[in-house]
Amino acid sequence: MDLKQLREDFPALCEEHPVAYLDNACVTLRPHSVINAISDYYTKTPGCGGRSVHRYGTTVSKTIAQSRKTLAGFFNAPSVNEIVFTRNATHSLNQVAKGLSWNKDDIILTTDREHNSNLVPWLQLEQEQGVDHRVVPSNADNTFDLEAFESMCSEAGNRLRMVSVSQVGNLDGIETPIREITKIAKDYDALVCIDGAQSAPHMPVDVQSMGIDFFAFSIHKMLGPSGMGGLWGKEDLLNSMRTIQSGGQTVKTSHYDRFEWAKSPSKFEGGLGHFAGMMATGAAIDYLSKLDMNQVHEHEINLNRIMSNGVKDLDGVSIIGPEDASQRGGICSLLLDEKLPAHDIALLLDEVSGVMVRSGQHCVHSWFNSRGYNGSLRASAYFYNTEEDVKRFVDTFSEAVQAFQ
Ligand code: ALA
Repeated sequence: MDLKQLREDFPALCEEHPVAYLDNACVTLRPHSVINAISDYYTKTPGCGGRSVHRYGTTVSKTIAQSRKTLAGFFNAPSVNEIVFTRNATHSLNQVAKGLSWNKDDIILTTDREHNSNLVPWLQLEQEQGVDHRVVPSNADNTFDLEAFESMCSEAGNRLRMVSVSQVGNLDGIETPIREITKIAKDYDALVCIDGAQSAPHMPVDVQSMGIDFFAFSIHKMLGPSGMGGLWGKEDLLNSMRTIQSGGQTVKTSHYDRFEWAKSPSKFEGGLGHFAGMMATGAAIDYLSKLDMNQVHEHEINLNRIMSNGVKDLDGVSIIGPEDASQRGGICSLLLDEKLPAHDIALLLDEVSGVMVRSGQHCVHSWFNSRGYNGSLRASAYFYNTEEDVKRFVDTFSEAVQAFQ
């Protein structure tokens, strides 16, 4: 990868004193092509897609169809009808949890390190519909415990209905063994739903070869516009699933006393959509498609190695997850002892050196609460980050730790 050239595509990195943006697990920066695509919608074709036949409407409809096709290709989805635009991965996971029909007997398995988006919808189902939600405990180093999972599946037996896990954790960057999980889950005829918010931007994803049923992703973590996400699902499952938002676009026709559902994806895209976002999604995925995702993954691990080696021996600091950075992708998440206030240090990193990280519980409250930790300070790298960025993080963070002690 020619980093210098790539970085020129990102206006936020072209300042005279560029920031060291290390909050990519939350939201990524956007290249000119995405920003231009958003602007093109508002300046050149500010009409309504999927309905109006005038030239604005037609261009919007065609560009959105192309974005959907690009996404289908990126994830190796068999059909464009399996790609649903949503607001974010949270919306996608809610659609799955609330769109399927459940019995009180059904068992749903998640893990003990899921983001709220892949925990709360299932807890809500448990509260409102009485399904049985169970949490698979991780190994001591936070990696997935396949043995514990297998034994919980066996205990659930034919009541196991759904396994929903993140492919890469936003807490620690640890990858979950999806193929092994799917193989076991399918022995029980359970559905498998993957929260791909932290994997899709960073590694090759092939929804068919994983053998899964649903894959939720966030486009704003993939260079795309904020407030854009997506859901991939097997076409038959999508067509048999309820939409959580009915209205315009979701039906073939309606009468005063009845209506006929449209098929996927229209059924799930009720109401006037985020057209600029859908159009610019195509530009974001085109950009990512030109990169070698294996190289992206390796580059992030290399940066993470520098961060991890640089901070692991600091007093009062410990890395969440295995010490080996290659098991944590681009995420270096640090537990700090009580003398080291994570939010204050995050503010200081930005003010002193323009290093941007995230502090707090990263919407994985359950993991922190169960262990009695307040939160962590998380640096997360992407392909456009340089060794200089992560060294800047290590130097300023080390100085801050000394200053607070
Ligand atoms: N889930 C996102 C993060 O981890 C917002 O920062």
